[in-house]
Amino acid sequence: MEEKAMARVTTALIGCGVRGLSYHGPVTKASEKLDLVAVCDVDEARRTFASQKLGVPAVADYHALLARPDLQSVIVVTPARYHAPIALDAIRAGKHVLVEKPLADSPEAAYGLADAAEKAGVVGMVCYPTRMSSYGKNLKRICDQIEPIQGLFTAQRGPLNAMFFMPEHFGGIVDDTTHTIHLAVWCMGGKPSGVFASIGRGNICGDQTIDRFDLVVEFDGGNKVVTIVSSMLGLYAENLVQVIGNLGLVSSTDRRSLRVVRHPPITEPGRRSARQEWEKRRAQIAAATLGPVDELTLGRPIDVEIEKIEESTRPESDGGMDDHFADVITGATRLQGASLRDGGLVVQITDAAVRSVQTGTRITLL
Ligand SMILES: NC(=O)c1ccc[n+]([C@@H]2O[C@H](COP(=O)([O-])OP(=O)(O)OC[C@H]3O[C@@H](n4cnc5c(N)ncnc54)[C@H](O)[C@@H]3O)[C@@H](O)[C@H]2O)c1
Repeated sequence: MEEKAMARVTTALIGCGVRGLSYHGPVTKASEKLDLVAVCDVDEARRTFASQKLGVPAVADYHALLARPDLQSVIVVTPARYHAPIALDAIRAGKHVLVEKPLADSPEAAYGLADAAEKAGVVGMVCYPTRMSSYGKNLKRICDQIEPIQGLFTAQRGPLNAMFFMPEHFGGIVDDTTHTIHLAVWCMGGKPSGVFASIGRGNICGDQTIDRFDLVVEFDGGNKVVTIVSSMLGLYAENLVQVIGNLGLVSSTDRRSLRVVRHPPITEPGRRSARQEWEKRRAQIAAATLGPVDELTLGRPIDVEIEKIEESTRPESDGGMDDHFADVITGATRLQGASLRDGGLVVQITDAAVRSVQTGTRITLL
């Protein structure tokens, strides 16, 4: 027990609001891999409450934490606009950082963090829990097998709390869609190259809050694409995920099961078949999957598996993400969570989406 305690990675919570107290506080307190040594909040009532609840000292100014040589890491759980300045100070002080989503309020700030962490040689990770869940891992595993070409990710949440009603593009439904953008981009793989978007503001309160958000992200020059659809309007809507690939497709409406269809390659990358050649090829695909060619025309699915995901996303993501952060710091495992660069890409895509709407054009991602 003594040995375990000594090996734990020391950490502190910066931001003791809803997320800090409902998730990172209890999770780090109970962790065998992290040792929560302090909490910090600019709000006196919140830090006092957190200190009492978690049984660790509280400070008002995070710089006081960063000056502690015994502190190895921090978890940044403030509102989004403060993530980057706080995380940058922490990285420069040599602390490993786990930062809540979205990583920053601009791509420059987000990628600046990634650069700084690489330079300082510290671990940086962004809190996208679906990536650590059974659902996320299995969806990604199958996507890696089917060579994705076209994806659809919907995220209908219904009206969010009043705190999310703000005109900035890290508030509103975008606050939640950041998870979907991250999951979609991770699952599709490849390099995003362009974004088209449409947003709806003020449908609910007549203000400037983005409450409907639709975006199309192209990859690798446009040969691969994902559409993301989200809003605060779709009460009890099913959240469909469907990825169509060269070697099959995967879909889910409940995050607890995946429908997987597998078949031989439909396209030959980089090569367009002459019509006659394609007929031959189509017959081969049909023979390998459906039998007679006509059945391919009917599109009867073959090789359909339903993969049940036994656990819900919650149990594994609860604590798993923070413990994984500790494991990466100690070198017990390589980073599987979202890196600062992954988080930067999500911020860059979000920023491009808003610019696409402002200009009415497709935004090229460099
Ligand atoms: N990954 C997820 O699933 C998930 C879920 C919920 C929230 N979040 C994210 O967590 C973050 C916090 O959300 P929340 O709901 O807890 O917000 P919140 O407003 O309830 O809490 C934020 C806290 O940060 C404090 N704070 C602000 N500036 C500070 C500073 N300079 N130093 C110290 N403390 C400071 C505030 O006083 C407040 O207590 C947001 O970025 C949000 O998007 C992520």
